[in-house]
Amino acid sequence: MTGGRFIFCADMSIITISYGAAINHYDIINTASGIVAHRAAIAQKHNKSFLSRREKKERRILSVFDVVRTVLAVRQFRDEPIPEDVVREIVEAGHLTASAGNQQPWHFIVVQDKETLQKLGELAKSGPYIAQAPLAIVVAGEQTPFAVSDASRAIQDQILTAWEHGVGSNWVGFNNLPQVKPVLGIPDNIDVIAIIPFGYPVNKVGKGNKKRKPLGEVVHRERWDQPFA
Ligand SMILES: Cc1cc2nc3c(=O)[nH]c(=O)nc-3n(C[C@H](O)[C@H](O)[C@H](O)COP(=O)(O)O)c2cc1C
Repeated sequence: MTGGRFIFCADMSIITISYGAAINHYDIINTASGIVAHRAAIAQKHNKSFLSRREKKERRILSVFDVVRTVLAVRQFRDEPIPEDVVREIVEAGHLTASAGNQQPWHFIVVQDKETLQKLGELAKSGPYIAQAPLAIVVAGEQTPFAVSDASRAIQDQILTAWEHGVGSNWVGFNNLPQVKPVLGIPDNIDVIAIIPFGYPVNKVGKGNKKRKPLGEVVHRERWDQPFA
């Protein structure tokens, strides 16, 4: 087969590929890389990570357990933005979390403004590294009996979803950040439960080397006096 080829992309753009010789394995590879490069360019233009949802799904190799096993507290972040679709997925993970009586007593303030991140880093004494993160989600809760449990679960879902994309994070503060409220215009009757900075880790993490008590010390089988392990 000789001549030119047009590939119609999902975004209605067209890639023209021409080749003089018969189509072969390399043509297919080149065509595929052309599409990938093209998608990357479009993605860059729209500030999105460059894999489609389907591709990402196909490439997901971490099981939920692997994500849990390898996630660690990340306190140093690369100066690299998180693609907007990944940010949205992290946000959605919190939004979709279950809550007691489905009351959803939470609010998530997505902060990407450098100056605000800097300010949050100054105010959160146990998390000055928020200032280096490209993103932080301030998790606030209504004053209901289950708000802390509900918000904690949402935070964990966000942390794990981020880690699935290689985005590290950490939990900063615990229901003790009233000083943050005026910076973000949070009303008096709402508590700031935590700030979660997100970003790509400076150092390689995630080999699953966690410092944890032995399983048998905290997990029991059937009765308190019988260790699980
Ligand atoms: C409720 C909660 C509050 C935390 N608060 C802070 C904090 O204020 N600052 C901080 O640097 N890390 C904080 N952390 C992170 C823990 O210190 C960290 O997860 C723990 O030491 C285990 O380390 P690993 O996650 O790397 O295994 C918090 C974690 C949790 C679950």
